[in-house]
Formats: sequence, C-alpha cells, structure tokens
Amino acid sequence: MAHKLTPFITAEQIAKRVGELGKEVAESYEGKDSLVCICVLKGAFLFFSDIIRKIDRDIEVDFVRLASYGSATSRGDDIVFSKDLEVSIEGKDVLVIEDIVDTGHSMDFLLNVLRMRNPKSLKICSLIDKHERREKKVTVDFAGFKLSDGFIVGYGLDYAERYRELDGIYELSTE
Ligand code: IMP
Ligand code: MG
Repeated sequence: MAHKLTPFITAEQIAKRVGELGKEVAESYEGKDSLVCICVLKGAFLFFSDIIRKIDRDIEVDFVRLASYGSATSRGDDIVFSKDLEVSIEGKDVLVIEDIVDTGHSMDFLLNVLRMRNPKSLKICSLIDKHERREKKVTVDFAGFKLSDGFIVGYGLDYAERYRELDGIYELSTE
C-alpha cells in the first residue's frame, strides 16, 4: 500500500512555535539552578536539538530511549528502558522533552523510573499533545501543538523508521 502524506504543520509554523515554547520554558525556570533537559529518543531528536537552543539559560542535556513492542502505529504494553541517563537527576529540576504524548503509557513508564531518582521537579514538554487519546494520567506542561487523532510523520516522527527527515509534519494515510 502506498503512503499519502498530507501537509499538516509547516517547517515555519514549527520554528515559530518552538521559539515560543523555548521562551516559555526559560521563563518558567527563571532563578532555578540545575535544569536537566532529557531527550526521549528517537522521535524527539530534531525537536530537542531545536528547542534547547531556544531555552536561553544554562542547562544539562541527556538522552534516554524507550523501546516498545507492537505494530508500527499502535503501542504494545511492553515498554523497555533501552538507553538510560548518564547524568544524575537527584535534587535537580528535570524537563523531559518528547515528540508525542498519545495514550501516555510511554511517558507514564518513564516518569515512574525518573521519580525514583528523586528529582526536585519533573515536567514534560511535548511537541504534540494527543490529549484526547490519553489512557494514563499524564499532563503535558509545555505543549507545542494539540492533535485529537490521526497519525503524523516528519520532523523526527516516523512510520517504521521512515519520514523522520522531513522538515514539516504530515498526516499519513494509505491509498
Ligand atoms: P504513547 O505511549 O501512546 O503515549 O505513545 C507515545 C509514542 O508513540 C510517541 O513518543 C511516539 O513515538 C509514538 N507515536 C504516537 N503517535 C504517533 C504519531 O502520530 N506519529 C508518530 N509516532 C507516534
Ligand atoms: Mg517518542
């Protein structure tokens, strides 16, 4: 089946929103020391690299990777923490930077792991918030765009490892 990609968010719209979000984040952590920004691989890699350059303050950067078993578009229940942090987050303000929070299962898993390490605070910044599909009680503190349904690709987001390289975001359908 061929994929059809319908433009959804342009590169210009993303850049504008990422700039606003970065400013919002910087303001909200004003006066705090030790902000750790965590990139959730792989999907957030482009968003992360853009937003950390718009957060005008001193930060520490680290990466985690979650892997889940299931089909390409739906989430299985088995989530594995396949790459751990290398910095300590104990007593620090922590901001998790993710591509999409959908059902919330991945983020719920990650937050539980991170909470056990006693950060001073733990917040979420997500490029896309599919809040209507939430199954776990996960709140996105800094959301780029809201989306009710549909499957999107581009700007880091993939379908079976494809389309991550696109500079805009597209809705994927089959024809
Ligand atoms: P959740 O556990 O259901 O919240 O799933 C979150 C993860 O599923 C995201 O971090 C994405 O990697 C992936 N995902 C969910 N929706 C989409 C989508 O529309 N496009 C690409 N990946 C998605
Ligand atoms: Mg992801």
